[in-house]
Amino acid sequence: MPKLLHMICSPRADSESSAGARVFLDRFRQRRSDWDFDDMNLWREPLPEFDGAILDAKYARIGGRGFSTAERDAFAVAERLAMRFALADRVVISTPMWNFSIPYKLKQWIDVITQPGLTFRFDPAQGYLPLLKDRPTLLIIASGSDFATGMNRGRVDMATPYLREALRFIGVRDVQVVLIGPTAGPTAAIEASRTLAHRRLEELGARF
Ligand SMILES: Cc1cc2nc3c(=O)[nH]c(=O)nc-3n(C[C@H](O)[C@H](O)[C@H](O)COP(=O)(O)O)c2cc1C
Repeated sequence: MPKLLHMICSPRADSESSAGARVFLDRFRQRRSDWDFDDMNLWREPLPEFDGAILDAKYARIGGRGFSTAERDAFAVAERLAMRFALADRVVISTPMWNFSIPYKLKQWIDVITQPGLTFRFDPAQGYLPLLKDRPTLLIIASGSDFATGMNRGRVDMATPYLREALRFIGVRDVQVVLIGPTAGPTAAIEASRTLAHRRLEELGARF
């Protein structure tokens, strides 16, 4: 059964990024009732701290050393998380912008799954090579400011380029981005941006 993985990265009950994802998914489900939907809330998912044995395992891989028992056990956690992502035929990442970039839970997930021999490899002649298959991936990013037209009042969107690059590094290039913002400030601007984004998400849901 094909699978869509939805990574929920906002801890807020009335999250704009999660609401946008629901608009997309409701439409997507209408056409894909036979699909398996995997919701992964990164605020409820036990993610390992990236220190100790799991960190040593990464350096063992980089150095071409075998794993100790503790490293193998720690690496297995990264393998399980990476597999959950690798097996998805479609991915939706709905996330807030936090301090110009992404919430630390999403960054932690990226640090855990971005491992040599698991999601990328290094070839002395060719450099870094991704190991995951490409698949349609949707980023829904909600921000207090409006980044649809670029920089906002001296604030920069580093979430979009960072996520694009982190995904490209492991093999995911087919990425579409929907920005929702401003989500703060005058009501009219908030509603206008939400309406525009939801319309686009409905369209995407119909053909993703
Ligand atoms: C810790 C924190 C940092 C934030 N940093 C930014 C920021 O750098 N730029 C911005 O435009 N909005 C920023 N915001 C506002 C959020 O992006 C905004 O509330 C957005 O709607 C959150 O997404 P959500 O509604 O899906 O939770 C920040 C909010 C929090 C809680």
